[in-house]
Amino acid sequence: MDKPKVLDMFCGCGGLSLGFINAGYDVVLGVDNDEAALKTYEINHQEAIPLKADLFTDEAINEIKDVIDKKIGTIKNIDVIIGGPPCQGFSLTGSRDINDSRNKLYLAMVKVIRLVRPKSFLIENVHGIATLYGGVVKDQIVNTFTDMGYKVSVTPKPLLAADYGVPQMRKRMFFVGIRNDVYESKGEEFSFPVPTHSSSNYISCSDAISDLPSRESELGSEIDEYIMNPQTDYQRFMRINCEKLYNHVATNHTDMVKSTIELVPDGGNYKDLPKGYGESRKFNEAWTRYASNKPSRTIDTGHRNHFHYKYNRVPTIRENARLQSFPDSFIFWGNKTQQNRQVGNAVPPLLAYSIAVQLKKYLQLGEKNE
Ligand SMILES: C[S@@+](CC[C@H](N)C(=O)[O-])C[C@H]1O[C@@H](n2cnc3c(N)ncnc32)[C@H](O)[C@@H]1O
Repeated sequence: MDKPKVLDMFCGCGGLSLGFINAGYDVVLGVDNDEAALKTYEINHQEAIPLKADLFTDEAINEIKDVIDKKIGTIKNIDVIIGGPPCQGFSLTGSRDINDSRNKLYLAMVKVIRLVRPKSFLIENVHGIATLYGGVVKDQIVNTFTDMGYKVSVTPKPLLAADYGVPQMRKRMFFVGIRNDVYESKGEEFSFPVPTHSSSNYISCSDAISDLPSRESELGSEIDEYIMNPQTDYQRFMRINCEKLYNHVATNHTDMVKSTIELVPDGGNYKDLPKGYGESRKFNEAWTRYASNKPSRTIDTGHRNHFHYKYNRVPTIRENARLQSFPDSFIFWGNKTQQNRQVGNAVPPLLAYSIAVQLKKYLQLGEKNE
């Protein structure tokens, strides 16, 4: 079978795309409205076309069709549509489906899936979507695609990235739709991949990043040298095909921040600070130091409350990228805020890979798209 063809909507820098590419898919097009993220996408996914478009609009859908028609003959040749729309796209409509103008970002996926009728689709979202408005949003997604002729599987509980070899306790919900004829040929519903790791062998923060320079005496530059060999299998894996060290630039913290975080032990937080210290930040995750012997907390888009397990600074882009399972050869483009947003928004490529491998078992079945 030829490589299944994929369209990635809301592609960001392409974490989800990378997992699919590594699993042997041909990602044809990535669509997003964030210029810097698309530039990163372009640098790292040279086979795929990056398309800047506002998925709130119908013009975007026409543009997607035109670009894909030109590249692979017809958009009907797309086998899989994947995407992680931002969850602000939701509102409670009270109706059975999500065809409501307020849910425009999801609507873009609905419209393109209705047009293409791919064999399958994958939608990723934050774990809170399962319970948003008492589960009504989740039901709306399932109902909408069921009515469109898909057998929809939802992760019974959010998938935990650490269970799939990612050094991070990130939880995400996934919806997978298998077109009814494909589902009937296979005779079984899509089942999510079984975990490859458990708490006894999770990849820890130090397993993931201990080979990277400390950046204590200098901030470093966007392109630099490694200073030691990889220390673990995970580090060896991350460094495949990469001779230089990219995006490993430290944040220049104030003396107050440095002297405060210095008082927090490995794995600790603001509760470990002596009275009178760190008063400016006192919420749940303030002054959190990652634990060297555990996976990291969820990598976010850069709020500066999570610190390196050993050094008195927040992790660099490269360290966060490692904790998201992006290989070192994946280079982030843009200023630090943009890079942080790209890394924090992404689906960890290793998690995406596990799902993509599982999905492939269904794709050789069924008819051509109508
Ligand atoms: C959760 S991120 C997707 C991350 C991506 N799946 C990955 O794995 O790297 C959501 C993306 O939606 C994009 N987005 C938000 N509003 C959009 C719009 N109106 N049109 C197109 N893209 C939009 C954002 O720029 C962001 O990159």
